[in-house]
Amino acid sequence: MMSGGLTLKSIRRLNFGVEIPLVGLGVFRSPAGETTKHTVRAALQAGYRHIDTAKIYGNEEAVGQAIRESGLPRAEAFVTTKLWNTDHGYDVALRACEESLAKLGLNYVDLYLVHWPVEGLRLDTWRAMERLLADGKARAIGVSNYMSRHLEELLDHCTVTPAVNQLELSPYNYLYRKEVVDPCRAQGIALEAYSPLTKGQKLNEPKLVAIAQKYGKTTVQVLIRWALQQGFIVLPKSNDPARIRQNADVFDFAISDADMAHLETFNVNLVTGWDPTNAP
Ligand SMILES: NC(=O)c1ccc[n+]([C@@H]2O[C@H](COP(=O)([O-])OP(=O)(O)OC[C@H]3O[C@@H](n4cnc5c(N)ncnc54)[C@H](OP(=O)(O)O)[C@@H]3O)[C@@H](O)[C@H]2O)c1
Repeated sequence: MMSGGLTLKSIRRLNFGVEIPLVGLGVFRSPAGETTKHTVRAALQAGYRHIDTAKIYGNEEAVGQAIRESGLPRAEAFVTTKLWNTDHGYDVALRACEESLAKLGLNYVDLYLVHWPVEGLRLDTWRAMERLLADGKARAIGVSNYMSRHLEELLDHCTVTPAVNQLELSPYNYLYRKEVVDPCRAQGIALEAYSPLTKGQKLNEPKLVAIAQKYGKTTVQVLIRWALQQGFIVLPKSNDPARIRQNADVFDFAISDADMAHLETFNVNLVTGWDPTNAP
């Protein structure tokens, strides 16, 4: 496989100058084993260089195998995994990272995220994340599903600011998440958009279809492009090679300011997975 610099628009967005490709393949609910291997292989062939997995997805082994078998140099693949909720606490978190690395077959991940702001132990967990960064087990560390109050607490106690906050983000919930999006932007914490395709729920909505037709694109491509124009790193999931290619074909058009404003009006506080709004 060809290599030569990360692609799918990698930029130096994370702290410590770590480069991250703006479009990443999500592998939530991608079945472990051959399906995930096939999917990751298809994505790498389509030019993706960023894979977003998690311990709880149960497919870290397959992700690691597919990357190794691709023949790409390690530095050409950006790999994220996440610390699960039962692995909070300093020592447990250190061990959990080692276990994920062993499953992935890697010496380090590019980004290690706290999956959810579990109450009670999350500050101890963050000290472990900082240790993992210092030890070179992760090139960048961040959080996921943190609301502004969780971030404030973390920023009051951390030595290293999280590089990333990964949230559910689409036009259908952007305004709902503004209370955390705005402080992240102000603090230089990169935002990653998960479930950017609304898990497929809104893809046939007539007002979204109308925008897609106007640009000669699919509704999925409009949603991915919207996320990029918001300045988000975007993580569409598909197990289908043709869709994986389609989802990366988003750099030849731009949504107008007027249509970006129109898309903002689509907000319905959509939550397709878990909702951290009231997480203590
Ligand atoms: N941090 C967190 O708590 C968290 C939570 C949820 C998700 N995530 C991350 O974000 C990633 C994406 O989110 P998600 O998996 O929830 O959902 P998503 O990306 O919003 O939507 C995935 C759905 O869209 C379909 N799809 C993909 N491309 C398509 C296309 N071109 N045309 C039509 N349908 C298409 C997929 O079906 P096919 O697979 O059949 O193509 C799948 O059913 C996850 O995989 C994961 O990495 C993180």
